Amino acid sequence: MVSVAIDGPAGAGKSTIARRAAKELGFTYVDTGALYRAIGLFCTDNGTDVSDSEEVVKILPGIDIRIVFTDGEQRVILNGKDVSKEIRTEKASMTASIVSAIPGVRSFLLELQRSFAKSANVIMDGRDIGTVVLPDADVKIFLTASPESRADRRTKQLAAKGTIADYNDVLSDIIKRDYNDSHRDTAPLKPAEDSIIVDTTELTLRQSIKRITDIIRDKL
Ligand code: DC
Repeated sequence: MVSVAIDGPAGAGKSTIARRAAKELGFTYVDTGALYRAIGLFCTDNGTDVSDSEEVVKILPGIDIRIVFTDGEQRVILNGKDVSKEIRTEKASMTASIVSAIPGVRSFLLELQRSFAKSANVIMDGRDIGTVVLPDADVKIFLTASPESRADRRTKQLAAKGTIADYNDVLSDIIKRDYNDSHRDTAPLKPAEDSIIVDTTELTLRQSIKRITDIIRDKL
């Protein structure tokens, strides 16, 4: 099996680029952020305070997360319910960032993530795929872009979905999430030593996808 790890900060275009590259190359795309989002959503629905890591760890045994692929699209099933849409809100993003700093949450999701790479050729996106989840991945890419361009893209993405968000609020959320994700003790966001860094600030989506598929083809 071939595995490709794509890590990087929120809003660098990882999921769109990884999904499209996977389609082009015939790989399965796995979005690992969705798993952290599902745990955050469960806490919110359950009234669990996400800042209390002991409480969060206590409720983990009651969580069953499955990923199913329908027409190449990943759906997240939380305790039997499809939550693929609900995990995409801004609140769910922030909650996911908080629960993802809890070591017990990370170890809870580790084997699940590894199991995907055992059964299919995958492009897996996240924050610690190349460093922790798949340290032996065949290709490791660290995808990044300036906070301003990420905030700009995110604001436009939300607008396209009918949600008007203030650019400055989005930018400050991105900066806060970057800080949380890269300063946690367990599996902080950082490029793997053997990763190829791709900065998409000046690239269009099409150019970014081409850069990524070229890197993958070259390495295989
Ligand atoms: O990629 P995303 O925005 O859907 O991720 C949601 C949160 O989950 C993000 O704040 C960081 C965290 N995350 C992580 O810690 N490790 C991963 N492999 C994927 C996501």
